[in-house]
Amino acid sequence: MTKARSSLRTFSTYTKNQPAEWVQVLDRLSVEPFYAACKQRLHELLRAESGGVFLEVGAGTGEAALALRSGSGAEVVAVDSSWTMIARARDRGLPRTVVADGHRLPFGADRFDGAWADRVLQHVAEPDRVLDQLLRVVRPGGRVALADPDYDTQVLDID
Ligand SMILES: C[S@@+](CC[C@H](N)C(=O)[O-])C[C@H]1O[C@@H](n2cnc3c(N)ncnc32)[C@H](O)[C@@H]1O
Repeated sequence: MTKARSSLRTFSTYTKNQPAEWVQVLDRLSVEPFYAACKQRLHELLRAESGGVFLEVGAGTGEAALALRSGSGAEVVAVDSSWTMIARARDRGLPRTVVADGHRLPFGADRFDGAWADRVLQHVAEPDRVLDQLLRVVRPGGRVALADPDYDTQVLDID
């Protein structure tokens, strides 16, 4: 556990210091079948429909937000703490983007029909606080979907 936590911290430092390289990493991961399947499942769990407004926290380059938007017709607001990521999400066609910290979401209560965070809680200082924020901004009856891999049980198949 200690080892996994310290390697995640190193990973976060890397993303902060070399955000352009991190964009490439996210692009490569998003086409991996395992991560693509996770994203698909998160979208199913959200049950987004046209007319709804959804929030993604830690949206990275915005690929998942764009997919939810085009697949469901719902509006999506993408939040990330990285200016580089949000600039990339805007360049890729996402109109509603905000640079913000998931620990302090700049939205009123019950503002969204649903929210999700994909591989984000593992990187934040206080995951419970980010979760509280997600629950605060989603209306009663709305859905919050989270995904983080269990790296201790992950197996790599390297050719
Ligand atoms: C592993 S990436 C996942 C990106 C995206 N969810 C995806 O599936 O491709 C984690 C993202 O969380 C963002 N992030 C890290 N800490 C954050 C925080 N406190 N608030 C908002 N975003 C944060 C990072 O900038 C990064 O884009």
